[in-house]
Parts: sequence; C-alpha cells; structure tokens
Amino acid sequence: KIVPVILAGGSGTRLWPISRDSLPKQFLPLSTSGATLYQDTLQRVAPGETFASPIIVTNEEFRFFAQRQARDIGIEPTVLLEPARRDSAPALLAATLLAQRLHGTEATLLVLAADHVIGDTFAFHEACRKAVGAADLGHIVTFGITPTEPRTSYGYIRRGAALNGGTAALVEAFAEKPSVEKARDYIEAGYLWNSGNFLFPAHVMLEEAESFEPEIVDAVRRALGNAKSDLGFCRLGADFHAAPSLSIDYAVLERTSRAAVVEGSFPWSDVGSWNAMREIAETDASGNAQRGPVRMIDTENCYVHSDGPLIAAIGVSGLSIVATGDAVLVMPSERSEEVKHLVSALKAER
Ligand code: GDD
Ligand code: MG
Repeated sequence: KIVPVILAGGSGTRLWPISRDSLPKQFLPLSTSGATLYQDTLQRVAPGETFASPIIVTNEEFRFFAQRQARDIGIEPTVLLEPARRDSAPALLAATLLAQRLHGTEATLLVLAADHVIGDTFAFHEACRKAVGAADLGHIVTFGITPTEPRTSYGYIRRGAALNGGTAALVEAFAEKPSVEKARDYIEAGYLWNSGNFLFPAHVMLEEAESFEPEIVDAVRRALGNAKSDLGFCRLGADFHAAPSLSIDYAVLERTSRAAVVEGSFPWSDVGSWNAMREIAETDASGNAQRGPVRMIDTENCYVHSDGPLIAAIGVSGLSIVATGDAVLVMPSERSEEVKHLVSALKAER
C-alpha cells in the first residue's frame, strides 16, 4: 500500500483576511462541497485497498484542527507534530522516517500538500498508478501540470527521456520559483509546473536528502528518536530545532538526478490567491462568484466573499472583495498576488 503523507503546516497568507497564521487556508471550508481543503485531501487518499492510513505533519498549534477535521470524516490519522516551523523538507523527511518505522524500509510514500484543489480524483489516481511504476524503478516522482502563465511561485520541470513505456519521463532540470523572465523562457521551452505532490520509495528520498542536506536528516532522525506519543499525536523532540529551514524543492528536487515526472491530466489549483479562488468557484452569467451574505447590482467578473457583514456592490467589475469580522479587502483581482506584501507590512507594524 502507498503511505499518504499530508503536509499541513504552511500558512497561506495570500488568502488574507480569511486565511490567517492562526487558521491557515488548508483548514478553512473553501471547497465547493463545504469541506476544508485538508479534508478533501484526506478523502482523495482515503485508507483502503490502495492507500494505508495517512500520516499528517503539522505544527503544534494546528494539532486539533488536523485531528478533529480528520475524525469528522471518519479517518484516524497519525499526527506528527513539529516543535517549530522549518519549511517542508524537515517535515517531509520526518514523515518518511516515521513511515519506514510503521511500514518497513521499503515503504512507498505519496506526499501531498494539504491546500490544493484537484478536480478529478479518478484521473489523480490514474497518475498515481503511473507514478508507482516510476517509483518502483527508483525515482522520486513529481506530477507535472501544463502551465498557463509565467507564475513565479512554482517549480518548473524540464522533461527528459521517457520511462516505463512513456507513462513517465526523467526530470532533466527542476527550477524552483524562477524570475518571471525565466518562467517565460521555461514555458516557451515546454517545461511543466511542479504540482507540489511527490511519490517515492522512502529509502530513495532519504539517500538523496542525506547526500545534499545531511544536517536536516540528522536533526530529524534525532527528533524522531526522542519523539513522545500521546492521544494520537507523535511529538518530535527538541532536536528538530537544529534542522535548517528549507523546502523539499530546494533541498532535493533541484539537485537530484533521480527525479521523474508524470503528467497530471487532472484539473489542479493550489488556490494560491483570491484570483485562483474565483477561477475554481462557480460563476454566474455575469462572471461573478460569491460566498456568504452578498448583494450585487450591475456587477461583473467579481469575487465577493463575506464571513461576516453583508457586502453590497454596485456597478463594479474585476474586483475581489473579501470581508471578515475584523477586516475588509478590496482590490482588482489581477493584483491578488500583492496580498502577501500587504500581510508582511501589517505584520511588521504589529
Ligand atoms: N508540516 C509542515 N511544516 N508543512 C509545511 C511547512 C512546515 O513548516 N511549510 C510548508 N508546509 C506545507 C504547506 O502547508 C503545503 O501543503 C506544502 O507544505 C507546500 O508548501 P508551500 O509553502 O505551499 O510551498 P509553495 O506553494 O511555495 O511551493 C510548492 O508548491 C508549488 C505548487 O503549489 C513547491 O513544491 C513548488 O515547486 C510547487 O510548484
Ligand atoms: Mg503552496
């Protein structure tokens, strides 16, 4: 069975004011089904014939969200807790070591971001099957998405030689978060976006991490050695603090020669901005999408979302308007990447 690992410790500031440090987007009911993105992710890899029971990695402060939201949909996960935020590499490697302990050194892992929307579970499982084929040949498998514009917040993948009868390909180059100029060149050259989900044999990931970032593996190994378990939580020891903060993309994917890519034919969004929220929402005949108490007159192509007061809009177009109990955001939708700058500025003033 494949061991699913869900990384659920990120903070998702670009969906401010709904997503906050204290309640990040993966734990919010943003899915059209009314579930949270984290719950949708759990459902996608529900325990059964293909998948083992999931391992969740998150911060101490999110432990109850992670456990309760899983229990609410009938899943009892292993929740691995980090004593500090160290980005995705230490989290992923801690889960890899734990998976080996629970399922043996030969375990195959599927690491998922907790905050993505994947439109077609059947197509996703099909891609996973292809990925298992490539992982069995000793590869760390990424899922490539056909790019639509030169986004700088993604990893870019250059495909090499075909593997396994063309169901996968070697990764010839992996470039994390390039400049917009480079991103344009990459798209021109036929690169794919990295979806941020990975399937691999545990030992291959550990060998690669050990050769590029021995400090991380060492710290994480000690932290798991000193971990304490209670009430379904597994708390990593204080040695975790010694792990350098780095994402798995920089730590391993950019450097390894053992990566492969399977093309993801499923609709995919990392819901990275309010503009992306509008794209995945159901829109009316005027191109508007709305959530919560909203009234619109003569308004088009707007995304209007309230978790509190009634929002009324008259005669506007192309705006994102988002209100909560204590904050209101209004901006042209195409500037939604700038929310992260606003949030940094607000934090600096506090
Ligand atoms: N447990 C834990 N601890 N999880 C974390 C931490 C951490 O310290 N930091 C991030 N995560 C989780 C996030 O919650 C998310 O599910 C996943 O790891 C990826 O982290 P992000 O911070 O969202 O990464 P990104 O979006 O900048 O980039 C990644 O995803 C892109 C696609 O959305 C990369 O893999 C890119 O290459 C990729 O294109
Ligand atoms: Mg992300």
